[in-house]
Amino acid sequence: MAQISIIGSGYVGLVSGAAFADLGNDVYCVDIDAAKVQMLRNGECPIFEPGLPELISRNIKAQRLHFTTDYSEAVPESEFVFICVDTPSSSSGEADMRAVRKAAAMIAEHLKTGAVVINKSTMPIGSGDLVTQIIREHVSDNVDFAVVSNPEFLREGSAVYDVLNPDRIVLGSDDRAAAEKVSELYGVLNAPTVITDRRSAEMIKYASNSFLATKISFINEIAQICERVGADVTTVARGMGYDQRIGSLFLQAGIGYGGSCFPKDVKALAHMAHEADCHPQLLHAVMEINVDQRRRFVRKLQEHVGDVHGKEIAVWGLAFKQDTDDIRESPSLDIIDMIQQRGGTVRAFDPAAMENAQKLLPQTRICQTPYEAVEGADALCVVTPWNEFKQANMSRVAELMRQPLVLDGRNLYDADEMRSLGFTYVGIGR
Ligand SMILES: NC(=O)c1ccc[n+]([C@@H]2O[C@H](COP(=O)([O-])OP(=O)(O)OC[C@H]3O[C@@H](n4cnc5c(N)ncnc54)[C@H](O)[C@@H]3O)[C@@H](O)[C@H]2O)c1
Repeated sequence: MAQISIIGSGYVGLVSGAAFADLGNDVYCVDIDAAKVQMLRNGECPIFEPGLPELISRNIKAQRLHFTTDYSEAVPESEFVFICVDTPSSSSGEADMRAVRKAAAMIAEHLKTGAVVINKSTMPIGSGDLVTQIIREHVSDNVDFAVVSNPEFLREGSAVYDVLNPDRIVLGSDDRAAAEKVSELYGVLNAPTVITDRRSAEMIKYASNSFLATKISFINEIAQICERVGADVTTVARGMGYDQRIGSLFLQAGIGYGGSCFPKDVKALAHMAHEADCHPQLLHAVMEINVDQRRRFVRKLQEHVGDVHGKEIAVWGLAFKQDTDDIRESPSLDIIDMIQQRGGTVRAFDPAAMENAQKLLPQTRICQTPYEAVEGADALCVVTPWNEFKQANMSRVAELMRQPLVLDGRNLYDADEMRSLGFTYVGIGR
């Protein structure tokens, strides 16, 4: 079993750290956010992620999982150091590498010889070279190290499951032995492993996320056409999805993708393509369709309520998807903003993301239950596909609303059933 440092205790670092500890390793999670580290030391989980609090407390108790703000407490004894810090979009669309640069420089000051530094954050092609160069600039001359790219594919909401049951492990390095060492760390998970050069590994991550985003924008474009020609996209997608070459996942028409990964990764890949003198037409179309999907949703709302000005609009769902409290690039935020700009009043409910959202939405009334949100409302916009919304008592909702109008941005409900309950029901592509 190995000693591992995890730099950055967010969605990726925290889940990976707790999972590596659960596999028997001695794990030190380092974060610059002192309040977060204190919470974790107290056994509290700073994010909503099913199964994570249990995983953390089990491994804290077993003394295999430690939290610190101090690199010197973690890195000097570690054979493996994972960089899991954030790489958000900068204004040009390029990935902002400031946190990675800082982390690499800090790691270098404490790195032991023979250690492997692993880039798990999503980083632009060529970042393996950048991290190597930064470490080389800051490390003592006698310290030998390797840098391996090991992109992460977990999905928020099922991150614990995904990390312990990965579809594949991707490792990129110019040092085969170092890649093999990291591969052994994952050995117990029995996942197919792709060992390649660093740039190809980095590209696998961007290409994978961009492909999934493409599938979403594709079916959203088909949905638009379905609406015009009188087809139902939910059946169309089902009929397509049985084809094994196509597959049914990521083929649900809706409000479009959001979150901390797809928007920034598609943007970053398009930026890299431009820098490399390419013309990434498909990536641009994917992004345009996605933005358009949110605008079209609000246009539909206007078509049905008339002028949004002065209307009470209920919004169900603030997180960018179900089973997470993450609101980064959430479609909800844009939709709420568009409604408020048109003079509408918004009351919103989300089972997990209310605390995160409240800080960003001072003008929005955050409600304690989905039913409180719809009371006296002129329309209900369903934006996040939480199970709680699928299972809601919709006849009660119809009674509570001023006008029983539902805009279902995720096609959660059966259209006929909704109409039989007295709703004016507007889905996507149906
Ligand atoms: N969230 C996901 O679903 C997901 C999935 C796959 C890959 N990724 C990628 O993984 C990376 C991390 O994403 P995330 O969602 O976990 O981010 P996050 O914002 O949730 O967490 C990042 C953490 O790093 C800490 N940090 C920043 N600079 C630091 C430093 N110099 N030293 C120590 N800690 C530092 C922050 O305080 C924060 O706690 C990103 O590149 C992202 O694209 C994310």
